[in-house]
Amino acid sequence: MSEKLFEPVTLGKLALSNRVVMAPMSRNRATAEGLATELMATYYGQRAGAGLIVTEGVQPSVVGQGFSNSPGLHSQAQVESWKPVTDAVHAAGGKIVAQLMHAGRIGHPDLYPSGHQSVAPSAVTAAGQAYGPAGPLDYPEPRALTVEEIAEVVKEFADAAQNAVDAGFDGVEVHAGNGFLLHQFLAENSNRRTDQYGGPIENRIRFAIEVIEAVSERIGADRVGVRISPANPYNDIVEGDTRAIYEALVAALPPIAFIHLLEGGDRDHTAALRAQWTGTIILCPHPENGVAVSAAIATEALETGVGCAIAFGSAFIANPDLVERLRTGAPLAQDDTTKWYGGDHTGYTDYPTHVAAGAA
Ligand SMILES: Cc1cc2nc3c(=O)[nH]c(=O)nc-3n(C[C@H](O)[C@H](O)[C@H](O)COP(=O)(O)O)c2cc1C
Repeated sequence: MSEKLFEPVTLGKLALSNRVVMAPMSRNRATAEGLATELMATYYGQRAGAGLIVTEGVQPSVVGQGFSNSPGLHSQAQVESWKPVTDAVHAAGGKIVAQLMHAGRIGHPDLYPSGHQSVAPSAVTAAGQAYGPAGPLDYPEPRALTVEEIAEVVKEFADAAQNAVDAGFDGVEVHAGNGFLLHQFLAENSNRRTDQYGGPIENRIRFAIEVIEAVSERIGADRVGVRISPANPYNDIVEGDTRAIYEALVAALPPIAFIHLLEGGDRDHTAALRAQWTGTIILCPHPENGVAVSAAIATEALETGVGCAIAFGSAFIANPDLVERLRTGAPLAQDDTTKWYGGDHTGYTDYPTHVAAGAA
C-alpha cells in the first residue's frame, strides 16, 4: 500500500507532517461558561500525531452556542483557557485549528446559562430534538436575523478568528455544514428570506462568503479553511439544488488554505468540486455501507487525487495514536459511544495507545 497518507502536505500556511486529519468532534467537556479545560488539553495533546487537528465546534458568540458545555472563543477568559490546549498540541509536534461553529436554530435555552433564543436566517423551526439533561427537547422556533444583525454575526466570526490566533491556534475552520447557521443560509428549506440573503443561490451563499471573507481579511486567507457537507440532511436540511449551491459557493471563495469536504456519498460530486477548486481539499470520505474509513479507503482517495489529506472522525476517539496504528497496521480500538458527549475523563482521555495497551 502507498505511503502517501504519511507524507507531508501543505495547506496554505499549514505545513502538515502527514495527511491524516482529526475531524472536528464535539465532546462537550468545556465548562458551562465555554472555557476549555485541562482535560481538553490532555485529550488534544494525546492526538497531536495527526497532521492536523480540527477542534470540536467552537461558538463565536454567546448566541452561537447550541449545546451544553461546548467551548467558545468570544471572551478573553476563553482565549486564555485555550492556550494550554494549543501549547500541548504544539509541544507534541502537531498543528491545530479551531472550528468556528455558530449553531443557528439548533439548540435549546435549557442547554446553556445564557438561555438565549436561537437565531437563524428565518423563523423556521428545525424538526428534531436536542438532548437535554432531563431528556429530549423539541427545537424551539428561532428568531430571524435582521440585516444589521447579520453584519454583526460576520464581525463576530472575524473577532473569534482573531481570538483563535491569540490563543495559539494555527488557523480556523469555518463550519458551513451539518445544518448549522451557515448551512441554514445555504439551504432553501431553512432560508425563506426575501432580501439579499435569501431566494436565488447567489443570495443564499452571500452570508457564508461574507463570513469567510471577513475571517480571511482578519487573520489571512492562508490559515482559513471551510467545512462543507453537500446534501447532508442532518439537522433538518433540504438544500434544493446541491450541485448548483456548491458550484456557486466554491466559485466565490477567496484563496483559502483548504476546503474540508464531508462527502455525502456522491463521489462524482466530489470529483466535480475537486476539478473546480484549484486549492487543497481535506476529504472526509463517505463511509461506504457504514464501514469506517480505513487506511486503504484513505489511500485510494489520495491516489485518485480527490483529497490532499483525509479526515478521520470517530476512529480518533479510542485511538489517540491513530496515525501510528494506520502506519503499522495495528488493530483499532472501539470507542464507547455513550461517552461521546459530556462527562469526565472516561471515554475521553483514558484510551491507551496501542503500545501502552500492549505493555499493560
Ligand atoms: C462525537 C462526534 C462529534 C462530532 N462533532 C462535530 C462537530 O463539532 N463539527 C463537525 O463539523 N462535525 C462533527 N462531527 C462529524 C465528524 O467530524 C465526521 O464528519 C463524522 O464523524 C464522519 O467521520 P467518521 O466516520 O470518521 O467518524 C462529529 C462526529 C462525532 C462522532
